[in-house]
Amino acid sequence: MASWKERMAGDLREVVFTEEEILAKVGEIGREIARDYGDKRVLMVGILNGCFPFMADLVRSVHTHIEVDFMSVSSYGGGTQSSGVVRILKDLNKTIEGHHVLLVEDIIDTGLTARYLLDNLLTRHPASLEVCSLLDKREARAEEVSIRYVGFECPNEFVVGYGLDYEGLYRNLPYIGVLNQEVYSRS
Ligand code: PRP
Repeated sequence: MASWKERMAGDLREVVFTEEEILAKVGEIGREIARDYGDKRVLMVGILNGCFPFMADLVRSVHTHIEVDFMSVSSYGGGTQSSGVVRILKDLNKTIEGHHVLLVEDIIDTGLTARYLLDNLLTRHPASLEVCSLLDKREARAEEVSIRYVGFECPNEFVVGYGLDYEGLYRNLPYIGVLNQEVYSRS
């Protein structure tokens, strides 16, 4: 019987970013963040659920004082297309007024989620507000978003792994790949 790893690999058409590439890139971004913020304490706000592996690796590669908080929003209906509807399911635990806030995303796709969050967070008067996203799917953009820290430019395909899901699955893959067409027709 095929192992879990073999079955997961079979669900992917191709691997786009390997585990080694991702970890090297996350290290680079972490060093950049530490250098840019210096003595300013940064509040890293992870957008659940997709951010969790990236956030966990990223915070450990930022070698300076940071704080973390999380928000949970819903923007996709569960399929592969953005619905454009953003709902806050879990808000920040604390006020961000006067704080240097860095939004951490696994992917910016249409930009609708990030745009909504940036507009919303700006009304709370942070000292600064920037975006860090592991993946930037520029071709799919519907809303302009300025991303200060980008890991990789992402092909305009439906990618899963390292936090990114299809119907809740594949988030625990340590790499990122394109899902096979057959997987959609199976579900
Ligand atoms: C993903 C991702 C971003 C958003 C980006 O989250 O984590 O938050 O989509 O898409 P957009 O740029 O088109 O708005 P998703 O809603 O799939 O939820 P998840 O993080 O729980 O997977």
